[in-house]
Amino acid sequence: MASFANTLISWYENHKRDLPWRGETDPYKIWVSEIILQQTRVQQGWDYYFRFIDNFPNVRTLAESDEERVLKVWQGLGYYSRARNMHAAAREIMSEHEGKFPKTYDKILSLKGIGNYTAAAIASIAFQLPYPAVDGNVIRIVSRIFGICEDVTQPTVIKRITKICETQIDSKQPGVFNQAAMDFGALQCVPRNPRCNECPFLSDCYAYNNNLVDILPAKKKKSELKHRYFHYFIYLFENQTIIEKRTGSDIWKNMYQFPLSETDSEKSTGKPVFVTRETLSHQVIHAAFYVKNVKKLPKISENQQIVNFDDIENYPMPKIMTLFLKHV
Ligand code: ADE
Repeated sequence: MASFANTLISWYENHKRDLPWRGETDPYKIWVSEIILQQTRVQQGWDYYFRFIDNFPNVRTLAESDEERVLKVWQGLGYYSRARNMHAAAREIMSEHEGKFPKTYDKILSLKGIGNYTAAAIASIAFQLPYPAVDGNVIRIVSRIFGICEDVTQPTVIKRITKICETQIDSKQPGVFNQAAMDFGALQCVPRNPRCNECPFLSDCYAYNNNLVDILPAKKKKSELKHRYFHYFIYLFENQTIIEKRTGSDIWKNMYQFPLSETDSEKSTGKPVFVTRETLSHQVIHAAFYVKNVKKLPKISENQQIVNFDDIENYPMPKIMTLFLKHV
C-alpha cells in the first residue's frame, strides 16, 4: 500500500489550489500569508495578503512602520492582536536576528505571536524542515482517517495528532506535505458532506469504515458566548466630532471609536440611528449608535480627541465602526 504521504501528495498534484503565495520561498511572505489565513478564508485572504505585502514588502518596512499604520492596513481582518504581534516580531527580527528571518523551528517559534502551527508552516515551506503544521484541516483529516475519537479541543489530543503527523510527514518535501494536507482538508475532507466517494483514502479511512464521518473530529461544545452592549455617541458640531482611543487589555486595543458606554442589557435611553452586532470568538457585541447635534462639544478626556468627521476613516477602527460609517 502507498504511504499516507504519497497518497496525499499525489492527490495534491491533481487538485491543489493556485494561491498567490504558492511557490513562495520568502519566509516573511509565508508568515504574512499564514497569519492572514488563520482568520479568513482563502478567497478573502487573497486581497488582504496583497494589500499587506504592498504596504510592507519585507521585515524591515514592517518593523519601521508605526503601529497605527499596521492596524490601518489590517483593518477589516479582525483579531488585531495578530497585527500588533507581527509588528513586534518584525522589530524583534531587526534587533535580535540582524534583520534576517530566523531559520530554525525553535527560533521561529520564539517570535511574538508565532505558535506551533505557524512556526511549522514557515519552517517547512520556507526551509524544508520536517515539522507538521497542524491546523483545523489537519486535525479533521487525521482524526477521521486514523480514528482519533477523543475531544480534539483538548491539547493532549492535538499532541497525539501531531505525533501521528510527525511519523507520516514526507521529510524530503515537508512543505508540500503540509500544504497538501491543508488543501485536502479544505477541498476534499471538508467538515460537512465530505466527498468520500472520490477519496483516495476511502478503504483505509477509520471514520468511513465505522460510519463516524459525521461525528469526527469530536468536539466538546463551545462555552456560551458573552453578550455585551455598546452604545456609541456621535457628537456633532460643525462637522466636528469626538473620537477616543481604546486602551487597556480588552478587545480592539489602540483602535479608535466614538465615545462609548457599555451596559448590561440592550436597554437604551435615546433612539439609535443604527444598530448592528458582531460575533467575535468569545463574545457578541451589540452596538447602538446615537447621533447628538450639539451647540458645543462636551469636554474631552485624555484618551479622546476632536476630529473632523471626514477624517475619521484615517484612524484604525473596529469593523463595527466602519459598518456605521458605511451606513451614514
Ligand atoms: N491555509 C493556511 N495556510 C495554507 C496554505 N499554505 N495552503 C493552503 N491552505 C492554507
